[in-house]
Amino acid sequence: MACLNEKNLTWFNGYVTRADRERLHKHCGAVVWFTGLSASGKSTIAHMTEKLLWERECSTYVLDGDNVRHGLCSDLGFSPEDRSENIRRIAEMVKLFVDAGIIVLTAFISPYKKNREKVRSLIPDGRFIEVYVKCPVETCARRDQKGIYERARAGKIKDFTGISAPYEPPDNPELVINSDQETAIQASKRILAYLEQVGIIKSPQVLQPRNKDLS
Ligand code: ADX
Repeated sequence: MACLNEKNLTWFNGYVTRADRERLHKHCGAVVWFTGLSASGKSTIAHMTEKLLWERECSTYVLDGDNVRHGLCSDLGFSPEDRSENIRRIAEMVKLFVDAGIIVLTAFISPYKKNREKVRSLIPDGRFIEVYVKCPVETCARRDQKGIYERARAGKIKDFTGISAPYEPPDNPELVINSDQETAIQASKRILAYLEQVGIIKSPQVLQPRNKDLS
């Protein structure tokens, strides 16, 4: 008999496994978790990395802070509790994407270490790649096209990360991108090289040199 939990629910294991789906995709399911201040470049690098992965015929999806907060998390604000709940919901969504064999790229400030570590604990070993997009707050404020740093400094936005709310940098991220020194394309290429190195994606096939006699 199936084992019920206290809510009378049981977990149904499908016939098709993550390994089966990964064979179909020809790469592993994983999450590239970008963390950093607002306007540090997370979204830009996530989308650029997705483009490069797409060109390599990988199945990908980008989850972006502003977008997710329009729907799934539209009821949440920016208190520590709401940010934790935001990341908790996203973590559950990411877990499904990874189980589907997809490479999901996420762009959330995710300022609290404990929230990010919780996500890591939910994802199979080696499939959570934390990328710290490091950028001085002054540079972020200068780049910001939404005018939110200015509004935060004027006291019009409370609990603003880097101004009136904390950002806890990761201790041991898989990768650090210094987005004030590296372009998005350079960073994305480095991320692809890392994904290759750890076996999440395969190296592009080495082209056979053309036989001169046949050309
Ligand atoms: S998180 O802290 O919960 O991970 P998330 O990445 O979802 O944040 O959302 C960040 C986006 O919300 C920013 O790009 C910014 O446009 C907007 N935002 C609005 N208020 C705040 C705030 N108080 N702190 C940080 N970002 C905010």
